[in-house]
Order: sequence, then structure tokens, then C-alpha cells
Amino acid sequence: MVAEPDALLKEALDALASADDPAALEQWRIAWIGTRGRMRTVMAQLRDVPAAERPAVGQRLNALRERIEQAFADRAGALAQEGTARAASSGRGRIASTIDPTEPGIPVGLGRRHVLSRTIDEIVEVFGRMGFSVAEGPEVEDEWHNFTALNIPPDHPARDATDNFYMGGSRLLRTQTSTVQIRTMERMPPPLRIIAVGRVYRPDTHDATHYSMFHQVEGLYVDRAVSMVDLKTVLFQFARAYFGPDAQVRIRPSFFPFTEPSAEVDMLMSIRGTPTWVELGGCGMVDPNVFRAVGIDPEAWTGFAFGLGIERIAMRRYGIPDIRLLFENDLRFLRQF
Ligand code: DAH
Repeated sequence: MVAEPDALLKEALDALASADDPAALEQWRIAWIGTRGRMRTVMAQLRDVPAAERPAVGQRLNALRERIEQAFADRAGALAQEGTARAASSGRGRIASTIDPTEPGIPVGLGRRHVLSRTIDEIVEVFGRMGFSVAEGPEVEDEWHNFTALNIPPDHPARDATDNFYMGGSRLLRTQTSTVQIRTMERMPPPLRIIAVGRVYRPDTHDATHYSMFHQVEGLYVDRAVSMVDLKTVLFQFARAYFGPDAQVRIRPSFFPFTEPSAEVDMLMSIRGTPTWVELGGCGMVDPNVFRAVGIDPEAWTGFAFGLGIERIAMRRYGIPDIRLLFENDLRFLRQF
């Protein structure tokens, strides 16, 4: 005989009432109204009912199935609403297991220019405003451009094997950007007004103020009747533009083979509020021997040149105590600039 509809209904509804999450509800659906569920079995029993009773029994069973399906739809709707309400009050939704919109985002790091690159850009900008264009030369040089054309004699100690990175033959890593003076004058006739910025190499032992690679900015100005006054004016204008209106320039007599007369360049800058003279490099009037080496008539042309250390400029300006910090790529250091 066909199962008793009322008992069946009660059993189904009790089970449905205790299904209180989506997974339990789905299990109930499969067990009761799925394609192999209890209701299917019950409906199949209709075949065994004598033909005369079949319409009446069929009607009751259909009513039973409808009530059960309706109960399922109601329960599913109620559970879904409960879920939304829970999501709203706690900020976590049904998709919370995969996406939580309240979690902090993944920060995107902003890159920035290395403090030395920024310093170089600023220097180029300041000299650019004074009409200097940028010239370039190779870091792997020959002795002619690094020494000979710069009036450095064959037996000069600057050529010692211990003071240079020789690479075989007459090749070496340049020790100074003065090489670019020679390369520029070989290529272009005067008047000339250039700066050259780049790396230079010396086999120094690394410490707080020495590194085997560093950067220089070289300047060269060749024209008719250029004088030491022009040189000091250009350096002074640079100092004021770069270090501020209180900056001063001092030049002290010195010696370089490629300039005559030669001088050391100091600049007065404020270091943590205290005005301080800082030695930044060398300068002078281009030696006639240098002009002769590149085929420029020293009777017709005069010029000045200077070479300043870029690390020194940056370290003094930003209060960086150790040159090695500039090359270690420690982001905690680099992020400060
Ligand atoms: N080349 C020199 C050095 O590396 C610096 C220098 C001095 C450059 C005098 C110049 C100059 O152009 O005129 O120590």
C-alpha cells in the first residue's frame, strides 16, 4: 500500500526544519525531491494501485508533492535571507570564504629615482640654464684620452698600475671625466660649452669616503678671451642655484697637468644650519698643451675646465655620512630621498 501521506509530510517537514545551512538544505533536496529521492519512490508506487482508486490516490500524492516542494522553496528563501542579513551585520557574505572586502588591500609600492640620479639631473639642469650641453664618452678608455692628451707625462704616478684598472693593452677604466674634454674637442671646433657626467673608477679601498667607482661632473668652456673670472662666475652661479642664495665659492691654488693655472674648488653650504666649506673638486684654465693635443690653436682660443665629485655634492647636501650607502641598494636608506 502507498505510504501514509500525512506521516510522510510530517517526516519531510521535520527534516527540512533542521536543515539550517545551504549544504544541509541541498542534502534534504536530494533525499526528498531529487530524481532518486523519496517522493519519486512514493509516486512510483502509484502503478501498484488498482485502477479504480488510482485517480483519488494520485490526487492526494500530487498534493503531498506540491506541499513538500513548496515547503522546500519557502525554507530555501528563508535561509538565503538569513545569509544576507548575517552578511550585512558582520560584513561577511556568502562569498566570504574567497573574498573579504574588509581585508586591507595589497599596497602598491611607488618607485623613485636614486638619490644620485636625482642629483645628476639637477646638476645637468642648472648648467643647462647657463647654456652648457651634455657631452658623453666611454667608461673604457685608452691612455691617450685618460692621460697623454691631458698633458699627463709618461712617467707620471697617476699612470701607476696600482692607481688604475688596466684592462690589457692600453685600455683602462677612466679615472676622470676629463677624458670627455678631449673627446669633445677632437670632434667639435670651438666655441664649446659642455658638461660631462659619468662614472669614473679608481682602485681605492672602500671606506666611508672612498669607493672604487664614483661619479664626476666635468665642465669645459672654450671661446675667445675666456678668463678665470668667467670660471669663478660659472661656479658661483652653480653654487647659488644648487645650494641656495647663501652659497659661496672659494678657489685655492693647486696643480693639475691639464690646467694652468689650477685651483681646488670649495663651496660654502649650510650643513644642518652651520655654514661649512666643502672641497668639491678641481678647476683651472685649459693648458695650452691640451689645446695643442687636440689641434686647437692656443693663441686664438682660451678656456676653463672643472671637475666636481657628485657623491660629495649629494652626501653634503643630504647629510649622508657614508658613501657606501649610495651603492648598497638598501631600500630603507633609498626611500628617505
Ligand atoms: N680630473 C680631476 C680629478 O679627477 C678633476 C679636475 C681638475 C677636472 C681640474 C678638471 C680640472 O677639469 O680643470 O681629480
